[in-house]
Amino acid sequence: MAEFDYRGGMLHAEDVSLADIAAAVGTPFYCYSSAALTRRFAAFTDAFGGQDAMVCYSVKANSNLAVIRTLAGLGSGADVVSEGELRRALAAGIPPEKIVFSGVGKTRDELAYAIAQGIYRINVESEPELDAIGYLAGGRTVEIGIRVNPDVDAKTHEKISTGRAENKFGIDIGRAREIFAKARAIPGIRPVSVAVHIGSQLTDLAPMRTAFTNVADLVRELRADDNTIDSIDLGGGLGIRYDGENPPSAEAYANMVLEATGNLGCRLIFEPGRSLVGNSGILVTRVIYEKFGLSHRFVIVDAAMNDLIRPALYEAYHRIVPVAQPEPGVESSPADIVGPICETGDTFARGRDLPPLAQDGLLAFMSAGAYGAVMSSTYNTRLLIPEVLVNGDSFAIVRRRPSYDELLKLDSLADWQQSV
Ligand SMILES: Cc1ncc(COP(=O)(O)O)c(C=O)c1O
Repeated sequence: MAEFDYRGGMLHAEDVSLADIAAAVGTPFYCYSSAALTRRFAAFTDAFGGQDAMVCYSVKANSNLAVIRTLAGLGSGADVVSEGELRRALAAGIPPEKIVFSGVGKTRDELAYAIAQGIYRINVESEPELDAIGYLAGGRTVEIGIRVNPDVDAKTHEKISTGRAENKFGIDIGRAREIFAKARAIPGIRPVSVAVHIGSQLTDLAPMRTAFTNVADLVRELRADDNTIDSIDLGGGLGIRYDGENPPSAEAYANMVLEATGNLGCRLIFEPGRSLVGNSGILVTRVIYEKFGLSHRFVIVDAAMNDLIRPALYEAYHRIVPVAQPEPGVESSPADIVGPICETGDTFARGRDLPPLAQDGLLAFMSAGAYGAVMSSTYNTRLLIPEVLVNGDSFAIVRRRPSYDELLKLDSLADWQQSV
């Protein structure tokens, strides 16, 4: 089942034509499918049917309130990495007891806020963070996990690889027993969980299997040391298909998890992000001009690297298709799809076969639901673009396009400049 598919020659999101949305909200815009979110969340949870599994959607992948609310309505918890994300998760209706807080640099203010909200778990990534929580606990008992760094190569893009010893994340797994002992000795802290996350867009189960097996071994050792471990948090990381990848299914992932962790008899916490939202969203953009250089055909679109930075940042691939399906027999030719920003890095794709495109024609960048809108900026004083959620034959703007006035009002002049 494809939630983004051609019907009557037009690309649709569920039952809504993307051309109709473009006419109503302007371009560029992100569009998410409720049905796709629901189907992917169900596939993940069904794969762990019968287990004590807690799915905490990783809000960083797409933190739109309406997206979080959709997943909250399906029973999801949230994995957050900042006070802002924690506030979003709460505002979207995720109860504190379903929220885990990850991150290598949580500030004391953020920790204090999280403790005051009574969230489920704080996953601690350093000894000073333990001390900070102990100081902030203020008579409460804060249940924490310790995020370990298993020194496993996730075999993904180096910028989203997080489980090697040289990466900043977690505490060296070889020191975990010592750190648990230290945590237990701090009044106000109860270490009850081991957390791990080795990277994102993993299409090979082997590195995760190694990391999870090591975590399971560690849990047995920690229990032998008299620690009460009630859960393991296995992070996110499951990859998706952008192009030719063949990512493991939710079932294959679940089978691997259950084999690797065996009968620990504890809760399994998951923090999937990309695998829930990546292919549940697209970005729709409009052709401003086509131009033919000496050697290249350039398609200049109204989206830019500030709206979707993945190609510039990670050399990421997004399939790019015309919203109006080309007539059969129309010849395609290779084109570079570029944005209007004054940087050569503002290139979405090179040498893609595309049919002749009308000025103002619409293109869709597929698989843009994860790490898309959340990583956007206003570089070149471009406005953040709208986000739209589709549900059956309805759609709603779930983040509107701000006005230039709103953007400019965030700046102010220094008082000595006022009279100039
Ligand atoms: C701690 C943690 N959990 C979960 C995720 C979500 O990962 P993904 O979107 O690959 O599922 C990340 C992202 O890198 C993360 O750092």
